[in-house]
Amino acid sequence: MKKITVGALLLSMMFVGVNAQSLKSPDGKFEMDFQLKQGVPYYNLKYNGKTVVEDSKLGLRLFKDASIKFASEIAKPEDAKFDLNNGFAKVDEKRDSKNETWQPVLGEKKNYINQYNELAITLNQASTDRSIVVKFRLFNDGLGFRYEFPQQKNLNYFTIREEDSEIDFPTDMKAWWIVADYDSQEYKYQETKVSEIPARWPQAADANASQTLIKNAVQSPVMLKKEGKEPLYINVAEAAVLNYPASHLEVDAQNFKFKTHLTADRQGAKGYIQTPSVTPWRTIIVSPKAEEVMASKMIFNLNEPTKYKDTSYIHPTKYMGVWWEMIIGKSQWAYSTAENVHLDTTDFTKLTPNGKHAANNTKVKEYIDFAAENGFQGLLIEGWNIGWEDWFGHSKEFVFDFITPYPDFNIKELNDYAHSKGIKLIMHHETSGSATNYERWADKAFQLMNKYGYDAVKTGYVGDIIPRGEHHYSQWTINHFYRIAEKANEYKIMVNSHESVRPTGESRTYPNYISAEAARGTEYEAFGGNNPDHQTILPFTRWMGGSMDYTPGIFQTKLDYYFPGDTRFVKTTLVKQLALYVTMYMPLQMAADLPENYKKHMDAFQFIKDVAADWDDTKILSAEPGDYVVTARKAKGTENWFVGGITDENKRDYTVDFSFLDKGQKYEATIYEDGKDADYINNPQSYNIYKKQINSKSKMNFKMARSGGFAISIKPVK
Ligand code: NOJ
Ligand code: CA
Repeated sequence: MKKITVGALLLSMMFVGVNAQSLKSPDGKFEMDFQLKQGVPYYNLKYNGKTVVEDSKLGLRLFKDASIKFASEIAKPEDAKFDLNNGFAKVDEKRDSKNETWQPVLGEKKNYINQYNELAITLNQASTDRSIVVKFRLFNDGLGFRYEFPQQKNLNYFTIREEDSEIDFPTDMKAWWIVADYDSQEYKYQETKVSEIPARWPQAADANASQTLIKNAVQSPVMLKKEGKEPLYINVAEAAVLNYPASHLEVDAQNFKFKTHLTADRQGAKGYIQTPSVTPWRTIIVSPKAEEVMASKMIFNLNEPTKYKDTSYIHPTKYMGVWWEMIIGKSQWAYSTAENVHLDTTDFTKLTPNGKHAANNTKVKEYIDFAAENGFQGLLIEGWNIGWEDWFGHSKEFVFDFITPYPDFNIKELNDYAHSKGIKLIMHHETSGSATNYERWADKAFQLMNKYGYDAVKTGYVGDIIPRGEHHYSQWTINHFYRIAEKANEYKIMVNSHESVRPTGESRTYPNYISAEAARGTEYEAFGGNNPDHQTILPFTRWMGGSMDYTPGIFQTKLDYYFPGDTRFVKTTLVKQLALYVTMYMPLQMAADLPENYKKHMDAFQFIKDVAADWDDTKILSAEPGDYVVTARKAKGTENWFVGGITDENKRDYTVDFSFLDKGQKYEATIYEDGKDADYINNPQSYNIYKKQINSKSKMNFKMARSGGFAISIKPVK
């Protein structure tokens, strides 16, 4: 417990009594208060009568002038009057509630329930005669709040210096976090107490291709656990980050307090606002059960329904890719040995081929054949287009044109061939961070895709952003990501975006923006490794706001298979790779390994062939961040279920209770489990596969190896 003086306590009690507005969640379990203390807005949050968030300050600081030049400009004391964090009086209070069910175009369940009570407080700052609204929505799974800026005489345009929304927790807690950065989310998760974050922070910040670290701050979503007799799991995140920078959390380790820290732009400003306007929602999801936090759809509920007229082109897809062989260094994206190419003048047919270009006609056809034989719908081809010779690290603006194939990639012939076998090629638009260049070419690029019948694109933003000095998560760049989503929608194209900002539920509004990477995915197993508990933390953090292109399915986990002596390896068993198809929701789901590796394990590969990518129902059977996740999902439009269980670096037993199945119905389960001697380091490819009849009364025990798991595919017996 923090120390508070008796005087301060009395003072705050006085104010609560006098001036607080309370709001309860529909089920009555949550209660929050809003109050002004000497003109400064505060809120708090209780769960089952116990304080979860202590009185925490709200407000924003602004620049004096909307047209700032240098954000290094230090606020003078007299500038405080421009801030929207003091001198307020309450002038209005509105209440509302909602209970609706909506259907995501692609989702973990058929129906998402959006039920909340709302409190909107209008505050007026007399000294400037400006009014803002603080809006709270209290759901049965937690709280969301945001600021709204109505258009008015004295508030038309302004520039944010910082948003200072606080979340002040009463006690120390366990935290799963990554370091805050304006440009990268590709960090290893840390598990420490909140109070220990500053001490751990320096070693948690390893190098990245583009990074702008914020010392002692962490990224959102962050996952917290109050330990003890009455544990509580808390997820702190945000929702609907549109036309606004993404936020991070500054950590006050003594007071267990987090404070919003917005991504700055190239001038150091944190959002250019024209009223009327609203901020993203700050979200706090709370439950005594970790599973309920993971299952929460609050972040999606806080996003607006889509305005798209036609979403019929958006569909789940399982895909393979000419990809992993480049990631591990066996092949290359580039076609030639040149080191300096000009897209408008270089004649690529005259360059010397490097002999390692993977996206060539022969190889692509082999991949198409294998993907088609095994029932996939898509095949991603990277390195198909000119420009990869000098694509990275030169701040080169005109780095790709997204329309010109390399000489050994016959775009028409390969698409025709793929279509004749029921496969669609998936387009790749690596921008190298040059977002301006991508905007310039996007129409032509999407027209080319329409012409040859591509309906999905993987975009990428490796390296520093152009406009130079902008960051991956600043307001301009976030607007770019959704501009591209809207443009792709005009061409009926689905988007899977890498190195972009982590999603915060925007797929409700932009349902073709199917997924992003925005965290450390499988590729990092080749770039320095992911920890064995990584995939048990991601569903509590990165996944809370939208699906991730993690690219599971690596069967040949040891890279010395390709390069004798190479010590890199994927830190899971083969069976854990299967289980990831269930524990990681991704409607555009990849089978990332090479065909030659699948061919050696066709029995295990059968699970990837069978598993669905989109779902009518999801049950998180059991989960603990950093330790394990067990998930059951019902495939869209069928009676088939799939179960996946994964564990961290520890062996673990788990008993699946099949009571989620329909009563009275018989099912055949195909079980994929770690072999007795399986181990992610010593024996990753040891597994057993067998079938068993089960029903809703069945229970089955599984022994997961270190960083292992189990996967089950379940079909009704007719
Ligand atoms: C990083 C992406 O995450 C990866 O999937 C892609 O292959 C490379 N960039 C090249 O675009
Ligand atoms: Ca652990």
